[in-house]
Amino acid sequence: MNPAFEAYYSAIWGDRFDGLVTALLKEKRQVALSVKNSQSKPLPDKLLISELPNVYGYEDARSLDYPFFYYLDLASLYAAAQINRKGQKHIWDMCAAPGGKSLYMYNGLSDESKLLLTDLSRDRYFRLKRNFEQCTLGEYQQNTDIVMTDALQWGYKHPELYDQVLLDAPCSSEQHVLENEGAMNAWKPSRPKSLAKRQYGLLCSGMLALKSGGCLVYSTCSINPAENDGVIERFLQKKGEIADWARCDIPIGESTEFGQWILPDHSEGCGPIYISKLVKR
Ligand SMILES: C[S@@+](CC[C@H](N)C(=O)[O-])C[C@H]1O[C@@H](n2cnc3c(N)ncnc32)[C@H](O)[C@@H]1O
Repeated sequence: MNPAFEAYYSAIWGDRFDGLVTALLKEKRQVALSVKNSQSKPLPDKLLISELPNVYGYEDARSLDYPFFYYLDLASLYAAAQINRKGQKHIWDMCAAPGGKSLYMYNGLSDESKLLLTDLSRDRYFRLKRNFEQCTLGEYQQNTDIVMTDALQWGYKHPELYDQVLLDAPCSSEQHVLENEGAMNAWKPSRPKSLAKRQYGLLCSGMLALKSGGCLVYSTCSINPAENDGVIERFLQKKGEIADWARCDIPIGESTEFGQWILPDHSEGCGPIYISKLVKR
């Protein structure tokens, strides 16, 4: 492990650091999300494994020979599940690719809802489109737009338009760093610092795009408080007059000052994910 990485994160996590690293390096526990389309069929209720709808166990799903599953970490679905879709007209997923959280939101859209998915990366935009094409048989186009664009600019161009916004922000993704020797060797303490600035910028854009009374859900898969509570705290300090922080309704994980953390060492291999919610005044 890069000594700078080890020193930085062990200063944050103390005695918990070694156990957290071990849990992050274990094989990921995935679940299968069944995506609705005109050819999808009801699956046996007894195979459901979560209080979240349409979520099945990995092994059961693999044995079913059913083509409309999307495989992902259960914890990440809790971020998407914080977005209220009932009666909400405009929903924006700012950093959507490859699309796991977007597919969860898509499943529960009301008839009157429109979903906008944006991503800046060309490769990831095409991956997102492919995932939606395959899982929805192209039917997503009835209520979902997928756009390759910079979410940092979009919010400023479309103020006060969205009822609900999901910002699953680009982050340090330490799990990936731990698994990838090149990323570990290249890691510097300046990286989380610059990512926190980028996350704050995206959060400001998302909050600007939100209507009064609307809700923004912020998430990352970073284990660094500076990219999580730190970003929310900065926003509340600088622009607290426009938003209130709200507690998330999530049955697993640990509460933090402004959100909830689901980390694999304490949540049976689920996560990592941090989730926080802001409501615009
Ligand atoms: C954590 S990933 C999103 C994962 C996705 N929400 C999911 O559940 O599958 C972050 C994404 O943000 C995108 N991104 C980074 N900066 C962006 C920006 N300024 N505007 C839009 N997307 C951006 C990256 O290309 C990447 O796909």
